[in-house]
Amino acid sequence: VDGPFVKIVEVSPRDGLQNEKAAVSVETKVELIRRLQDAGVCAIEAGSFVSPKWVPQMADTARVLTSMPLKSGISYPVLVPNARGLDDLLSLLDSHPNQPLTDEIAIFTAATESFTRKNTNVSITESLDRLSAVTQKAKAKGLKVRGYISVVAGCPYEGAVDAKVVGDISNKLFQMGCYEVSLGDTVGVGNPSSMLSVLNECARFNPPDFFAAHCHDTFGTGLANVLAMVGAGVRVVDTAVGGLGGCPYSPGATGNIDTESVVYALHSEGFNTGIDLVKAAEAGEWIAQAVGKGTNSSAGRALLAR
Ligand code: HMG
Ligand code: MG
Repeated sequence: VDGPFVKIVEVSPRDGLQNEKAAVSVETKVELIRRLQDAGVCAIEAGSFVSPKWVPQMADTARVLTSMPLKSGISYPVLVPNARGLDDLLSLLDSHPNQPLTDEIAIFTAATESFTRKNTNVSITESLDRLSAVTQKAKAKGLKVRGYISVVAGCPYEGAVDAKVVGDISNKLFQMGCYEVSLGDTVGVGNPSSMLSVLNECARFNPPDFFAAHCHDTFGTGLANVLAMVGAGVRVVDTAVGGLGGCPYSPGATGNIDTESVVYALHSEGFNTGIDLVKAAEAGEWIAQAVGKGTNSSAGRALLAR
């Protein structure tokens, strides 16, 4: 397919696994990353430098980074919530001067006070203040910074979310130095109309191709939301093979929209992703089995049944 390029950001090693109760080994995480590389994914969210008391599953991200095979042309963003997380990452990078483990972090805030508090223990304003300092320091050290806004289309604690608020927060993230903002329908309650009104409010400040669609598939609207966003000019989509995932601070939320269905739909709509669909499906099947589940991807099941 050689139509317009849509970049897939594979979040399965981070968003996909962070909610797993049983520990997933470093070896399994590294093998997942290797399989994603082999499938042609050019951005792989490798883990997070958050508090292990809050998200135990990500406690071994430093070992994942130093154990994974690095491939040039692929970015490996990691989530950083605060100054401590950035400092931990920077000292890891300093101790591996000849290995470019990552050149990108992702910072995250949310569109409601309750979710920001549950996820990061601060108000939205406090979160933006500390993220601004993190971004400044990260950029001074040569790292790119991606921003996330959670619960853009609905919050498990506050219900409806004002799209204007999302737009305003996106503007603040760009002003502090993010190169891209990913719009998270964390609980998967959005529909094409609500996601498009969020994008519309964001477009008061920046064009659609500055944004990524990050849709969870709790109510089965994930793919429709992604296609609506791409139709409106978004060119980056966050997905997880096998539809893996959930968020520890959003009760009931299921996985990210699966890579397989997004890539299948984008290719058939004439977009290019650079991803080998069968290899993505095999990776999805493999990781689902490795964590003791069936794949959540109907496209994946169909492809592998052929
Ligand atoms: P806190 O409890 O307010 O932090 O948590 P604190 O500064 O008071 O520190 C508490 C303890 O944690 C201390 O240890 C610190 O040293 C330690 P103690 O003295 O008790 O032994 N600590 C850390 N350890 C390792 N790495 C760190 C770190 N910071 C402090 N970076 C904090 C505040 C932000 C740390 C916490 O709330 C946290 O880690 N939150 C992250 C939660 C998370 O990872 N959520 C999931 C990712 S976001 C998501 O999934 C949404 C997304 O996918 C988009 C979407 O779908 O919407 C991105
Ligand atoms: Mg998420």
